[in-house]
Amino acid sequence: MCGIVGYIGGRPAYEILIKGLHRLEYRGYDSAGVALMGEGSELNVYKTRGKVSDLERFCSSKDISGTIGIAHTRWATHGEPNDVNAHPHVSRSGNIALVHNGTIENYHVLKEALEIEGCKFHSDTDTEVLVQLIEYVKEKNKCSLIDAVRGALKEVVGAYAIGVVDTTEPDTMICARKSSPLVIGIGENETFIASDATPIIEYTDQVVYLNDDEIAIIQRGQPLQIVDSDNLPAAIDIKTLRLSVSQLEKGGYPHFMLKEIFEQPRTIQDCIRGRVASSGDEVSLSGVTENKERFINANRIVIVACGTSWHAGLIGKRLLQEIARIPVEVEYASEFRYSNPILTSNDIVIAISQSGETADTLAAIQMAKKCGAFVYGICNVVGSSIARATDSGTYIHVGPEIGVASTKAFTGQVTVLAMLAMAVGTLKNTVSKETRFAVAKALRSLPSLIKQALRLNDRIEKLSSTYTYVHNFLYLGRGYNYPSALEGALKLKEISYIHAEGYPAAEMKHGPIALIDHELPTVVIAPDDEMHEKIISNIQQVKARGGSVIAIVTKGDTTIKEIADHVLEIPMVPECMSPVIVSIPLQLLAYHIAIKKGCNVDMPRNLAKSVTVE
Ligand code: G6P
Repeated sequence: MCGIVGYIGGRPAYEILIKGLHRLEYRGYDSAGVALMGEGSELNVYKTRGKVSDLERFCSSKDISGTIGIAHTRWATHGEPNDVNAHPHVSRSGNIALVHNGTIENYHVLKEALEIEGCKFHSDTDTEVLVQLIEYVKEKNKCSLIDAVRGALKEVVGAYAIGVVDTTEPDTMICARKSSPLVIGIGENETFIASDATPIIEYTDQVVYLNDDEIAIIQRGQPLQIVDSDNLPAAIDIKTLRLSVSQLEKGGYPHFMLKEIFEQPRTIQDCIRGRVASSGDEVSLSGVTENKERFINANRIVIVACGTSWHAGLIGKRLLQEIARIPVEVEYASEFRYSNPILTSNDIVIAISQSGETADTLAAIQMAKKCGAFVYGICNVVGSSIARATDSGTYIHVGPEIGVASTKAFTGQVTVLAMLAMAVGTLKNTVSKETRFAVAKALRSLPSLIKQALRLNDRIEKLSSTYTYVHNFLYLGRGYNYPSALEGALKLKEISYIHAEGYPAAEMKHGPIALIDHELPTVVIAPDDEMHEKIISNIQQVKARGGSVIAIVTKGDTTIKEIADHVLEIPMVPECMSPVIVSIPLQLLAYHIAIKKGCNVDMPRNLAKSVTVE
């Protein structure tokens, strides 16, 4: 979490930095700040609690000149979100300014040592310790900024992506990374740094992804230099971005979340393109083809992920077990990494992550690799840390997801997992020709089925008014759609702050049934599948206790129509692909309830999209 951006070149830096911060706001939005080096090398630092737009208002009467600067949007870890704790942080002399994404774990020890040396601290942040340390090293060793940064980072335990400027070296910007992402954009006589490529794409498509323990020295008019922690030159691997500015805009929708919900027919088309044959039963993923033996000989698969990606993993478990007949476990990455897991070289660990930056998932990958397991990634962000840390993988290719609540990434992840199961099942010959045909056909028809499900939007918008003031919701589903219930509940609580719980429908009688009364609505996911009869009984149990029911059913289901309060009809789809279609009304329901409540759906309180801290 936290987004950093920096610029050095010939244009006014402020506008570039502010625009960049807006793009990175999904990473945190409790305070923001900017440091600009104007003519005469004076350093102007402006920071404020609140969103980037608050920072803009704050700066409206300030001197915003300068062609070099760094900026930050924060998600608080150490110290409450206020003006003082906002970044950039400035050294004692006022010469050095620094922005930081990550956590300095040993900041207490460093702070105490610096206090003994006479340093005074103004904020409660771990970051201020780092900027003071850099200045301390610089003064003590009478060295350059780069040497001071390198020296200071040697003392640091933790994660960081940093950008640093110094009034005594006004044509230099230093950046460095360890376990937090940092991208450098190379333009003509100008260089950009940012937590991801979105602030950069408008100006250049040439980027370098900094690796862990690397430090970049960016000097006006000089080629980029990158060194490792021992000051040895590191390779500069320039990549060309495949991203367009229009993908980062709302495109006429009031919110990114709604845009991303409505994009799904296209994003799923992009996800299956070149992977599912246009007719017949062939599904191929290059990551599987290139690692055939690994998949054929796998003893078991362990899926690690967090949040929505973990829900996709639960669906993936069923798909892989049913189609590829490999035993699968699904673990929260945060639990897995501390569970002393038993893994062997015949195990495959699949890491699922939209951002490709989630700290717990990255740590789980590192642990799996240490144990000798083969690690396969399912990511959205191309070039992200997880995509680079895994042995092989498949991108979901759904384009940038900006709304904090994940929507199109979830359906992309489930789609990739279905393709993965099919590709492996075909290799292992564990899936019948009929099933292969049926699943391949279902994959091909997903975009048009999603389109049909999106027609529910107006209905759901109207229906949502009934539930605006409700305090609790229950979501029930079975089989493939038990994870859909979890995901539906998560969507609602993330953006509307209504407490919601997802449960396997049959477990309702072991607890949640006690909660049911006329104030607790239940969303029941009840498509026409094997469990249909059983889930009808669950609906009846809820109704018998005065609860209201919103049921998601297959078109033409007359039985449930008679008993449920509201019925949302989705098109017929094979059971194993139904979570993709079911998720459309669930996403829309959460969206419209949150909007009716006046919530900021794209930036829900306390959340961040890319969780780069433990
Ligand atoms: C955060 C986001 C969620 C996301 C989770 C995992 O909590 O708000 O939307 O599902 O992180 O993120 P990842 O990028 O690893 O999928």
